[in-house]
Formats: sequence, C-alpha cells, structure tokens
Amino acid sequence: MSRRAAARLVRRLGPLVVEAPAARGMSDTQYGCANHTVNSRRRFHWIPSPQHPQYRRRTMGTYDAEHSANKASEVHKRTFGTAATHIQRNPAYSELNSDDVSYFKSILGENGVVQDEDRLAVANVDWMGKYRGASQLLLLPKSTTEVSKILSYCNSRRLAVVPQGGNTGLVGGSVPVYDEVIVSLAGMDKIISFDNVNGILTCEAGCVLENLSAFVENEGFIMPLDLGAKGSCHIGGNISTNAGGLRFIRYGSLHGNVLGLEVVLANGTVLDMLTTLRKDNTGYDLKHLFIGSEGSLGVVTGISVLTPAKLPSTNVAFLSCNDYISCQKLLLAARRNLGEILSAFEFMDDHCIDLAMRHLEGVQNPLPASPYKFYVLIETTGSDESYDKAKLEAFLLRSMEDGLVADGVIAQDISQASNFWRIREGISEASVKVGAVYKYDLSIPVEKLYDIVEEMRCRVGDNAEVLGYGHLGDGNLHLNILSSKYDDNILAQIEPFVYEWTSAQRGSISAEHGLGLMKAEKIHYSKSPEAVQLMASIKKLLDPNSILNPYKVLPQSVL
Ligand code: FAD
Ligand code: MLT
Ligand code: ZN
Repeated sequence: MSRRAAARLVRRLGPLVVEAPAARGMSDTQYGCANHTVNSRRRFHWIPSPQHPQYRRRTMGTYDAEHSANKASEVHKRTFGTAATHIQRNPAYSELNSDDVSYFKSILGENGVVQDEDRLAVANVDWMGKYRGASQLLLLPKSTTEVSKILSYCNSRRLAVVPQGGNTGLVGGSVPVYDEVIVSLAGMDKIISFDNVNGILTCEAGCVLENLSAFVENEGFIMPLDLGAKGSCHIGGNISTNAGGLRFIRYGSLHGNVLGLEVVLANGTVLDMLTTLRKDNTGYDLKHLFIGSEGSLGVVTGISVLTPAKLPSTNVAFLSCNDYISCQKLLLAARRNLGEILSAFEFMDDHCIDLAMRHLEGVQNPLPASPYKFYVLIETTGSDESYDKAKLEAFLLRSMEDGLVADGVIAQDISQASNFWRIREGISEASVKVGAVYKYDLSIPVEKLYDIVEEMRCRVGDNAEVLGYGHLGDGNLHLNILSSKYDDNILAQIEPFVYEWTSAQRGSISAEHGLGLMKAEKIHYSKSPEAVQLMASIKKLLDPNSILNPYKVLPQSVL
C-alpha cells in the first residue's frame, strides 16, 4: 500500500471514543459483588454458561448415554469416543449416605445443600458439554469456616470433593468424574476491602470476575486479567487455573499480581496468607503453590490482588495480514513502537473469522471480504489521548508501508470496538456450536506457533475444520479442531501427535487452561519425571487422603 493510501486509511478512521466513567451508572459505595449492576462498556461480557438452558439442552458425543449408564463403581468412559480417558473409580473413597447429608445440613442449612436433580445436572457438566460427572450433592458454603467444616468432615469420611467456581474451565477440572461432592464457591461473593491508594482488592473467592472489574473500575482501577468467560468465571477459579487471558501481555501472570490468599486445606486447616504487602520475603511464598493448582491442593476462599490504575485512553485496531511471518513481524514492531501503551495483541486465522461470521449473532467483519489469511487485534491503553492516538496511527502507517498490514480499521466508537472484541472473544462460543471441539492450548515459540495448525490441517483433511487463534503476544496458541460429532478416528489423527510435536519444540501442552482431567495423564510431555514426582509429594503432604479433585492434574500412577 502506498504512503498516501495508508495515510488516507488511518485518517478516515478516528480513535475509539472512550465512555466517561460517570456515564457508567456505577455507585461509589456498592459492596458485595452479587449486587453490582454490570455495565458491558467495552465488550459483550456475558457468556452462555452451563447454567443457561441452551447448555443444559446441548448434548455432545456419547455423554447422555454415558450418564444414564453411569454407576459409581464402573470404569468411566467419557467424551471423545472410545479412545477417551478411562478411569477406574478409586474404591478408597466412601459413598455418600444420609448421615453425611444430615451433617452438611446441620452446618450449611437446607439452602446450602442441593440435591435437586436439575441443579445437580447443571453442576455435573462442564461448559463445553464434554465432561459429565454423577455427583449427588452440591454444597454452597457461605464462609471460610463452613468450607473448613466441610473439608474436615469429608477428609475424615474419605469423601472426594470437587471445588467449583464459575464452571467455565475448558479441561474438565471443575466437574466430578464420579460421585464426588461438589463444593461451589458461588455463595462467597463479597468484596472485603479496597485500598484505593495502592489499588489492592481483597475479596472472597466466589466473586465473578466481571463484577470485580465493574467494582474496581468505579474506583479508577482495572483488574489485571480479563477473559471471554468473565461474566461467569470466579476470581477463585481464575487463581486456581492461573488464568492468562487478554491482558497478560501488559500485566503478566497472576503469580505476579496476587498478593495474598486464604486457602482451606484438605483436613480443614485454614491457611491465612491474605496479606496485602507488595514485598514479603519471610520464607517460602506458599501462595504460589495454590495459584494454578486447579483445586488439587486446597480450596481458595480469599484473595488479595493488585489492580493497575485505569487509564483514560483506549484504542482498538482490527488488522489483516497476508501471511504468518507478517503477524510475527508486526508483534515485534508493536512491542518496539507502541511500547508501554500496548495492552493486547490477539491473533486469529481466516477460519476463525469465517466461523465467527457463521455462528455469532450480530457480528460483522470490520474488513471487506477478502482473501486475507490472518487477522490481528491490537489494543492500546494509555494516559494521553492525543499522544496515544498519534502513536498508534504512526505505527499502523509504518506497518502498512512495510507491508506487514494488508488492511485495517481503528474502532471509532464503543460499538465498533465491541464488535472487534466480540469476534475474538466469541471464537470459543462459535466453536461449540459446530458440535465437537477438540481443544488444545499450547505455549510454543512464536516463530513456530502456526506450523502445528498447518500440519494439523494436513492430518485431518476434510474430516474436521482446524482453527488457529490466541494470545500471540504471549506465545499462546489455541488450536481448535471442529467436527459435527466426536470421532475416534479424528482423535487418533490429533493425539498423541499434538503433544509430541509441542514437546519437541520444548513448548507447554497447557499454556493457560490447566491440565484438569483432559491432560492429567499427559503432564510428562511438558514436565520432567523428577518435577512430576515432587508435585506428587506435595499433593500427598497437603492432601494425604487425596480427597481434593481426584483424577485431575497429576497422573494416577504417581499418586
Ligand atoms: P471453574 O471452571 O469452576 O474451575 C476451574 C478449576 O479450578 C477446577 O479445577 C476447579 O476445581 C478449580 N477451582 C475453582 N474454584 C476454586 C477455588 N475457589 N478453590 C480451589 N479450586 C478452585 N482461560 C484463560 O486462561 N484465558 C482465557 O482467555 C480464557 N477464555 C475463556 C473464554 C471462554 C468463553 C471460556 C468458556 C473459558 C475461557 N477460559 C480462559 C477458561 C476459564 O474461563 C478459566 O480457566 C477460568 O479461570 C475458570 O474459572 P472458573 O471460576 O469458571 O473455574
Ligand atoms: C480464549 O483465549 O479465547 C480462551 O482461552 C478460550 C478458548 O480458547 O476457547
Ligand atoms: Zn486464551
């Protein structure tokens, strides 16, 4: 593109108009997440969750038949056809009896003990409709003391437990495998305090991320993480999965942003590490053990987290590139030229865009229908509107001149920005509408990251559609392989190839979603036997009866 044409394009498109905070209708003093009015200012935040009738109706693969045949002691065959995970119920666990239920009622009251079939059906199945357990009991504690009493009792009775947050996890970690008791943190959703000088939020684990975002934004801060599931996921779930998401490129991992945790151990001991200090080098920093441990080491009940200042100027650009190498060069150029204002660098291939247009209501391709293969969403956030705008425009102009960007638009208002984000954030939702999703979440050096997508297309041929998208700025590829129904032959073309290939690149088979049930037996592709053994020792130390989230995270053989 010529310099003149590029200049015209950039001039034609104005910057994103950022809504003034006062227009958001937030009260200054509202506490308690559940009561917050959520204002979807920038994006469409709510995602349909399993609690939604749409997901209750959806059936995938064999799970309905599986469910009706499901008995506590049989070998469990689940999800992607016959090659799927086969796990024997651990006979060391007790089966629930009426005395147990009476005990739970005595500590939680009738409302905190759910045996209703419909509610259990929702809590037993994951967001994708891919994993289904057969729990007969859902507990809803309202305090750390109640969580402690539940775990202490379950530990003495050898009742297995699954901690559950918003149930948006994508690796089968949040639902039971057999008859484990589900302990939902949904009733623990209070904000405890907010230090508006240092931007430190202290809250209970069951606060919904979107509600926390709305709360801190009203105080002039933002949450250090953001993800498409924010309307349903809990902060406790985010911490337990060490969720990455869309702001990782700017604010980094939760290991850096979480200041303190309160955790209840398997035997009911409450571990109070709920400090709000920025610096504390007194001994081992135990909170890190629980960040990303997926409910296998303890139940997170309280969190204090550092929230960055909210900056007034945001711009979002939606760009197309002709080839993958241009995306890589664009990332490097964005890092060099946008520097401190770069707040998101997300990537999608043309299959994602087609899918989003087919399945997401009301979204539009911001760019004319074209043969472009790759799309990049860049967001900048800064403190000086005219400086930020000039910086982004100059960057885009240069990128066009250099041939890195084929075409592009900058959002001119909130609704355009929302549309851009909706396309990127809606890919998971659009994927599940196709039928079966074989979902992989890989960390791979950026220069190699798209090779696996192309190889996978060759392997599966016309049997499935392969999507490549993700957080390019973090070297995190999401590889979704879609087909109308689960098929062992397709799975055999994908696995173990996808894990072997990733391991050969010294990548990670779980960048941000965790291992859950899906990849518990695959950990060795990314971790040495010594590291896995040490993890098993830690698990045995903290949870000697292995009641917490059984069959997940670690291979059965090491436990
Ligand atoms: P759940 O799904 O309920 O649980 C997840 C795991 O954490 C389970 O193992 C569970 O046992 C454990 N757990 C939950 N709460 C607690 C607790 N209080 N104490 C101990 N253990 C607990 N993930 C990303 O990293 N980045 C993304 O960009 C992203 N985008 C997503 C977009 C969509 C549309 C969807 C559906 C999911 C997305 N995810 C993403 C995955 C998911 O949202 C995250 O893993 C999220 O952090 C899970 O939170 P949750 O509250 O739903 O936890
Ligand atoms: C995303 O980045 O969109 C998520 O991690 C969810 C997904 O890959 O499905
Ligand atoms: Zn992601």
